[in-house]
Amino acid sequence: MSRSARLVRAVAVAAAWGLALPLALAGCDGSGADDAGGVGGGAAGVGDPYFPKAGNGGYDVRHYGLDLAYDPEGRRLSGTARLTARATQALSAFDLDLRGMEVEEVTVGGRAASFDRDGQELTVRPDDHLAKGATFEVVVRYSGHPEAITDPDGSEEGWLRTADGVLALGEPTGSMAWFPGNHHPSDKASYDITVSVPQGLTAVSNGELRSARATGGRTTYAWHTAEPMASHVATLAIGRYTVTRSSTGDGLPVYVAVDPTQAAASRTTLARLPEVMEWAAYNFGPYPFSSTGAIVDRPRDSLYALETQNRPVFPGPPGVGLLVHELAHQWFGNSVTPRTWRDMWLNEGFATYAEWLWTEDEGGPTAEETFTERYDHGEDTYEDLWKFPPATPGSAADVSADPVYQRGAMVVHKIRQTVGDDAFYDLVQGWTAAHRHGHADTDDFTAYVEQQAPDKDFEPIWRDWLYGKGRPERP
Ligand code: TRP
Ligand code: ZN
Repeated sequence: MSRSARLVRAVAVAAAWGLALPLALAGCDGSGADDAGGVGGGAAGVGDPYFPKAGNGGYDVRHYGLDLAYDPEGRRLSGTARLTARATQALSAFDLDLRGMEVEEVTVGGRAASFDRDGQELTVRPDDHLAKGATFEVVVRYSGHPEAITDPDGSEEGWLRTADGVLALGEPTGSMAWFPGNHHPSDKASYDITVSVPQGLTAVSNGELRSARATGGRTTYAWHTAEPMASHVATLAIGRYTVTRSSTGDGLPVYVAVDPTQAAASRTTLARLPEVMEWAAYNFGPYPFSSTGAIVDRPRDSLYALETQNRPVFPGPPGVGLLVHELAHQWFGNSVTPRTWRDMWLNEGFATYAEWLWTEDEGGPTAEETFTERYDHGEDTYEDLWKFPPATPGSAADVSADPVYQRGAMVVHKIRQTVGDDAFYDLVQGWTAAHRHGHADTDDFTAYVEQQAPDKDFEPIWRDWLYGKGRPERP
């Protein structure tokens, strides 16, 4: 089941599965930099095995300050992006990723910088070189009609028009449709997203709402994200929403925005959000962010749900299983973020396994039964479940395919079988703690598991379930 089929299934079913390529992240190894440690241009990508142009080398963004105004009638977005970044090498030039839009002006350190554009690369040449280690501010003024982007797997992301506004979804490369940045999960930053919209519309984004001010027929919403966020889970939803603000038993703020046409059908599931949050924190460790919630748009506004930070997006009323999946991603994906797109199974395998655990804890089939069902019938229910191993998807189009989700979850279950329940939950909580607000790849994970349970042999699991081609022998 691909991600576009996922939603259909989640609605239809009450509950709901080679060789590693050597990877050198080119972050500190700019294409134009000379060997003698001289000044050069930052690389046009971070060297992701599946999305080579995503992100950029030579700098690390610390903070994004986005000041945006949207005109729904003309469908025009105008913005100022203020990025605070640190040079990781001496730089005469560096790239930002931005698709479409018109760039009006770029300054670095308050001085006009020259720039040019080539596809998604916006190359900036500051007036003066940036020293290695220097912190600098780059400001980009831009405007235009942001575009939807078609992914390698055929899904639509980026800037999506909805029945009554827009929805910005960024996995894997969509955020470059609405703001310039270092658009790769390896560079996380804090954010302030401020959006002005005509009065009557609401602008919902990540983090906490700092203010909503009405003047001159428009409302300006200021959203603040203090914890590190990868740009692919940044979001912006503009439209008519019924907003409910509450808090969980632990006092965590909850902000839920629901398209009014979906409100009645969403109520039962959304009422369980605090319970799901508590369950997840109990099993996966302390919640890594300072607020939670959800955004529910109409079923056709997007064809898949996304774990946008703090408040996941759902196209139409989610089932509890899908809510569990997207909230689990706050731990697996948003706090512990994959180093590259190849490490996607660390997101999707764990989020899928969270669904299995939830079902087990609710008194439904145990995870063991779900595992066996996938093993026996995976091919009937899931497309190409054995097509490739979760650790090495075949191509960019495969990072959202069933082996990453279902077989990824099967790997997690094999670990649980090997260590037993107590050690398993300790291991999972230790994992989210070890990489909280950081990054991890498959090697980090296998090394971590081995170190936590040195008396067990995981080699057959890695060989057959994580890296092995085809359907493993019956366990
Ligand atoms: N992460 C989303 C989910 O699990 C699905 C998804 C959207 C996705 N875009 C993607 C997965 C791109 C991989 C790549 O609900
Ligand atoms: Zn997912």
